[in-house]
This record gives sequence, C-alpha cells and structure tokens, in this order.
Amino acid sequence: MTDLKTRLGSLTFKNPITVASGTFGSKDEFSQLIDYNTLGAVITKSVSLELYKGNSMPRTCETPSGMLNAIGLQNAGVDDFIANKIPYFTTIDVVLIVSIAGRTIDEYVALTERLSEIERVDAIEVNISCPNVHEGGLSFALDFRATQALVRAVKKVTKKPLIIKLSPEGDIAKSAQTAVDAGADMLSLINTVRGMMVDIKTRKPMLANVTGGLSGPAIRPIAIRCLYEVRKCVDVPIIAMGGIASVEDVIEFLIVGANAVSLGTINFAHPSFAGRVIKELEQYCVANKIACIEEIIGTLEL
Ligand SMILES: Cc1cc2nc3c(=O)[nH]c(=O)nc-3n(C[C@H](O)[C@H](O)[C@H](O)COP(=O)(O)O)c2cc1C
Repeated sequence: MTDLKTRLGSLTFKNPITVASGTFGSKDEFSQLIDYNTLGAVITKSVSLELYKGNSMPRTCETPSGMLNAIGLQNAGVDDFIANKIPYFTTIDVVLIVSIAGRTIDEYVALTERLSEIERVDAIEVNISCPNVHEGGLSFALDFRATQALVRAVKKVTKKPLIIKLSPEGDIAKSAQTAVDAGADMLSLINTVRGMMVDIKTRKPMLANVTGGLSGPAIRPIAIRCLYEVRKCVDVPIIAMGGIASVEDVIEFLIVGANAVSLGTINFAHPSFAGRVIKELEQYCVANKIACIEEIIGTLEL
C-alpha cells in the first residue's frame, strides 16, 4: 500500500487531490458521483459578503483545449453559505477549505472574521485573482502593495490557515513572496488567465463580459512555469492547479513542488474524474515503487 497522505502546515490531506474553487459547487453537488470522504480536500466556490448576481450570459465558451468563463463570482453570500452549505460538511470527513472574495479589504476582513468563528472550516483560501469582476478581484493580485495590505489585514483576524490564491499574470514570484511576507501560510496557484474570443459571424465577443478567464489543459504549461518560479522563492505549502486532466499531470505538478493539486475544468467534462485519479495515483505509485507520495514532491531535476 502506498501512503498518499500529504501535509500542508497544520493540515493533513488524505491524498494530494483537491477540487478547485468554482468548479465543484459549494456543498454536495458532486456527491452522487464521488465520495467526498475520499478527497484530499474540498475547496468551495468563492463566497462574498453579500449576494453577487454574476455577469450577464453568455458566461462560458469552449476554447481549444480549455474554456473561457466570466461567471463573475455568482453566489448567495456568506450568510446563506453558513446556513445552507456548511451543514453538509459536518456529515463528512474531508478537509474543508472555504474560498472568499471581496471588493474591498474591509469585505475580505469581515468574511474572514465570520468564517473563523466556524469550527468546521479548516482553512480559508483568499481569492485575490479573479479576472471577471469589476471591483476587487485581480486588482489585488497585480498590485503588490494591495496584496500586502490585504493579507496583513486578514491575517490579523484569524487563526485558521490562510491560503492566498495567486494570478499567473504579472510577476507571480514577487506576488508569492509578498503574500508570504505579509503572513500567508500557504499559496494556491494559478487562477485563470485573461482571454477573449470573437464570433466571426456576429463579430461580437463570445462572452457578454467581453473578456474571461482561460482554464483547462491550454494553461497547464503556464501553471507549471508559475509553480516552478514560486517554488524557487518560497517554502510554504502550495496547492497547484491549471489544466490537470490525467494522473501524469498530477505527478508533474508534484515533482515541480506542489504539496497538493486542484482539479478544475476537468470536473465539467468528467465529473467523476477526482475519484478516478485518486485510484490511478495509487496504482502509479505501486507500479513505480513509491511508498509515500511526499517522496516525489519537489524532486525536479534541472
Ligand atoms: C467556471 C469556473 C469558475 C471558477 N470560479 C472560481 C471561483 O469562484 N474562485 C476561484 O478562486 N477560482 C475560480 N475559478 C478558477 C479555478 O479555481 C482554477 O484556478 C482555474 O480554473 C485553473 O484550473 P483548471 O485549468 O484546472 O480549471 C473558476 C474556474 C472556472 C472554469
């Protein structure tokens, strides 16, 4: 038997497979297809202080080897999340990471305070890198001073592990260093890459928001490059993602230094993929005589 356990600071995941925020719902949406108890962790869709209606339709379109989305962080707000989403997680045994998004530092602080009161929440992922909202979002990741101020402010109001989710745009290594210096316990990377597509018949953008975030296998080499650059400069635990679609992709991210990985766009095409890839990871380790998955983390040879 292989030991798939991976430790991220004070958190222990049963295995390195998690699901990326916004691609796996906010509670039991995938539970008919996957036993949540088998996952390393669940990362819920970003929740905001108040209800967000999201952007106008169309909000998604298919691209070569991926998709564009401009959902705009649609969600019912943190009160609804606490009342109607959290109770499901008290019935299962999985590390629960709650993703938050705000328009201002005060909103992020208020969200962090609310969620810190909830024992079932194991860690908070701070989404500072959403490209599809007009206030907040990516502007916090692209401005180092804003990153620093935001991370310091949320760190002050919580004892839960704080995971900062970074953007592949700009200087991600500097962004990572800034977040860690300001108090981030862990990092999550990457969020989507801004993109745009046009329908040549109508000559209109494919998305009502005009631009959107590109995800899926098309961005995997960007994600690997980002992970490589960040791993060189910080030694906090990293949850990495971007285009994972096979067990080989998982191994690639672990070798470059991810302590765990998130599955995103693949959940839309193959909703039971997470369950399958955990089994495949175990088979891979047995076939390659890897006794403990942590053995291969950060073993990149240059
Ligand atoms: C439809 C959709 C919705 C998303 N919503 C969120 C979100 O609410 N919060 C967040 O931090 N990232 C969100 N993301 C980004 C993913 O969590 C992930 O960082 C990104 O898609 C890259 O991984 P992938 O290529 O495996 O999908 C979303 C991505 C997609 C495709």
